[in-house]
Amino acid sequence: WKIIRLDEVDSTNEYAKRIAPDSPEGTVVVAKHQSAGKGRKGRSWASPEGGLWVSVILKPPRVDPRLVFVGALAVGDTLADFGIDSGIKWPNDVWVNGRKIAGILTEGRGSEYAVLGIGLNVNNPIPEGLGDSAVSMLQLIGRELPLDRVLERLLFHLGGWYRVFLARPDLLMAKVRERTFLIGMTVRVIEDDSVVTGRVIDVLDDGSLLLDVDGQLKRVLYGDVSVRF
Ligand code: BTN
Repeated sequence: WKIIRLDEVDSTNEYAKRIAPDSPEGTVVVAKHQSAGKGRKGRSWASPEGGLWVSVILKPPRVDPRLVFVGALAVGDTLADFGIDSGIKWPNDVWVNGRKIAGILTEGRGSEYAVLGIGLNVNNPIPEGLGDSAVSMLQLIGRELPLDRVLERLLFHLGGWYRVFLARPDLLMAKVRERTFLIGMTVRVIEDDSVVTGRVIDVLDDGSLLLDVDGQLKRVLYGDVSVRF
């Protein structure tokens, strides 16, 4: 890894996209604070000091939406290193006991490059307004953690899962299936312009979610899942 450390940036994903064409795979951008952190679907992502706001430039040989799971699995392993049990909330969140601890945002340009952006609540305060829906490692462990140590574990696990993604995406997805706590639950999925409610049956090898909607099987490729509605 080649790590670029910034005090302040608009968004590590934006920064990474700017430098990606001229940067080697494995370039990492990490910032103490983001002034315009981005979430999925154009939402903003509060990024006060104390959190881990990081983007990794990758150059996989093909465009593959399953890259997001490399981030989700690496975050899960990192949390486990600190004694925290977590699960994947398909497709791009990591939750602990019903609360969000990390979000992942992948962006890219065709097969030229991909940026894997990870926001992990470590020592940062949880923004008011999110109330009980989000949680930090500090809240769970009861003491501040050295951010560098968390980053080191995260990059270690990212490297491992990225290799699995490249060589054996089926094994990657088997692990995702194991960690997806939604299986068996009734959820509401908002796709671009439709909403479906159904019971989660499985996560398929192509990364999609398989739902039982009134007895009919339905595959969802991408969407926002709510478990409380
Ligand atoms: C989501 O849950 O909607 C995804 C949140 C992704 C946040 C991370 S923080 C580092 C990187 N830079 C950004 O602007 N966003 C991602």
